[in-house]
Amino acid sequence: MPQWIELPDETATQNLGAVLSRSLTQGSVLLLNGDLGSGKTTLVQSLGSNLGIREPIVSPTFTLVSEYPEGRIPLYHFDLYRLQPEEVEELVLETYWEGDEYPLGLVAIEWAERLPYLPAEYLAISLAIVESGRRAKLQATGKHHQQMLQQVLAEWQKTGTQPS
Ligand SMILES: Nc1ncnc2c1ncn2[C@@H]1O[C@H](COP(=O)(O)OP(=O)(O)O)[C@@H](O)[C@H]1O
Ligand SMILES: [Mg+2]
Repeated sequence: MPQWIELPDETATQNLGAVLSRSLTQGSVLLLNGDLGSGKTTLVQSLGSNLGIREPIVSPTFTLVSEYPEGRIPLYHFDLYRLQPEEVEELVLETYWEGDEYPLGLVAIEWAERLPYLPAEYLAISLAIVESGRRAKLQATGKHHQQMLQQVLAEWQKTGTQPS
């Protein structure tokens, strides 16, 4: 069942990043969708700084992935926006969530709808631009990520911003 969260301003998006940073663990996969300017990068930036990454997080425009190893868990940030479909096909994303080649971390993918295949387990957040700011739709697949989503929603309620 998808869950919706209202994000009236940028601070709310940042708060969601903070809440996510406490629940996401090594091996978590975060799929981000939503139009340009809907807040995908804002969310990853907040997530990153709350994980303890001090390096500025910018969208990986000219590289396929930006790796941030310095936080509580490593962050692998992908942005598929400028990639051609065949380039997306060539990305062997599984290597980042399988943990053999790279230390297991959090994989965050902007424009995840361009993936030709989906990971077995993930938390998907779709951001929509609405009159009142942004609306986030959260959906999880797989036991681990579903539990995580429940934890995120419970924490979110505690922050005082009511889910709709
Ligand atoms: N909940 C919100 N309400 C209004 N503006 C927001 C909200 N969250 C983020 N923003 C603003 O929207 C823009 C989002 O940009 P960005 O995060 O780069 O989006 P994307 O990565 O989806 O293209 C930023 O200017 C940010 O300040
Ligand atoms: Mg972006």
